Amino acid sequence: YLREDELNEECKKLLLTLPKERGWLFSHIYNYQGFWIAPRQLQAVRACQQQFLAQDSDIILVTFPKSGTTWLKALVFALVNRMNYPISGKNHPLLFKNPHDLVPFLELKLYVDGQLPDFSSYTSPRLLSTHLTYGSLPKSVQDSQNKLVYLCRNPRDTFISLFHFANILKIENMGISSIEEMLDLFCKGVSFYGPFWNHVLDYWKESMEKPKKVLFLMYEEMKEQPEIQLKRLAEFLECPFSIEEENCGVVDEILRICSFENLSNLEVNKNENLSTGEKNKAFFRRGEVGDWKNYFTTEMVEKLNHIIEQKFQGSGIRF
Ligand code: A3P
Repeated sequence: YLREDELNEECKKLLLTLPKERGWLFSHIYNYQGFWIAPRQLQAVRACQQQFLAQDSDIILVTFPKSGTTWLKALVFALVNRMNYPISGKNHPLLFKNPHDLVPFLELKLYVDGQLPDFSSYTSPRLLSTHLTYGSLPKSVQDSQNKLVYLCRNPRDTFISLFHFANILKIENMGISSIEEMLDLFCKGVSFYGPFWNHVLDYWKESMEKPKKVLFLMYEEMKEQPEIQLKRLAEFLECPFSIEEENCGVVDEILRICSFENLSNLEVNKNENLSTGEKNKAFFRRGEVGDWKNYFTTEMVEKLNHIIEQKFQGSGIRF
C-alpha cells in the first residue's frame, strides 16, 4: 500500500477536501463518495474507477468487509472452475492458496500500486472482487452485462468480526480500542466502506431491479441452507448443476472443500501470508452465526437494534 505521503498530487489535494474521522483499522479515515476509506486506498480506488474495463463475462464478488468474503471467494472459485479443477482432486488450488489469492480484490490488490494490472493470464470468466459501494463501482461495471454477487451478513456479527480483525491487524496505532467506542463509530456509519446500511441497501435495491445482474445472498442463509444457496448461485452464474453432478455429490463436495473447518485447517491458511502481507489465518476466526451474543452488553444491543430498525425498516431485509 502507498503511504499517505506517497500519494500522487491529485489524491493529496483531494484528501484535504474530504471529511475526516478517527478510524479503527487506520488512525484516520476519509469520506469519499459517501463511504469511508483510508488515505492509502484512495489512489487505488480512483485508479480502479478510472481504468477498469469490465467484460460482460466478468464475475465480481462484492461484500462489506467481514461479511464472509473469503467463503464466497472459495465457493465461486470452486463452482465456476469445477470442470478444470475437479473438486475431489488432490491438486485443487483451494488446497494450496488462500481464496483471496485466487479471486483478487480490484481496489485492495490489483490497483494498489498505481500500475495497470496485467489481466493477460486471466481466463474467462474473470473472477474479481471488491468492497466498493454500488454507486462507486467503475462505470464499466455498472454498464456492462457482467454479474455481481453480493454477500450480506447480520451487522451484529459483521461488527464483531470487524472488531477482532482490527485487533489482529492493528495496521496503525488506532486511537480507538474499546468495543463500545468502535460500536459508536459503526452506528454513525464510520467504518471501513461504511455506512453498513447504505452499502447493503444499495445492492439490495439493484438486486431487485436487475435480478440477472445482481444476486443478493445472506451469510446466515448460506449457513442454514447451503445446498439451496449454492444451487441458486450456480443458476445465477449460468453454470447450474446437472442431475448427474447432483447425483455424484458435487454440490456437497464444493461445500465441504469450502467449509470453515476444511479451509481453516489447511497448512496454507494456518501458516502462510497473503501476497498483500496479511496473515491468512486472520480471515478465519469462528465462522459462526450469532457470536455477537458473547460480546454485546444490553446497552450495545439496544443501540445497534435502534439503528438497524431505523435504516432497514420497510426494505424487506430483516436481521
Ligand atoms: P468471524 O470473525 O465471525 O469468525 P471476510 O472473509 O469477509 O473477511 O469475513 C471473515 C468472516 O468470515 C470471519 O467471521 C470468518 O471466520 C468467516 N469465515 C471465513 N471463512 C469461512 C467459511 N469457509 N465459512 C464460513 N465463514 C467463514
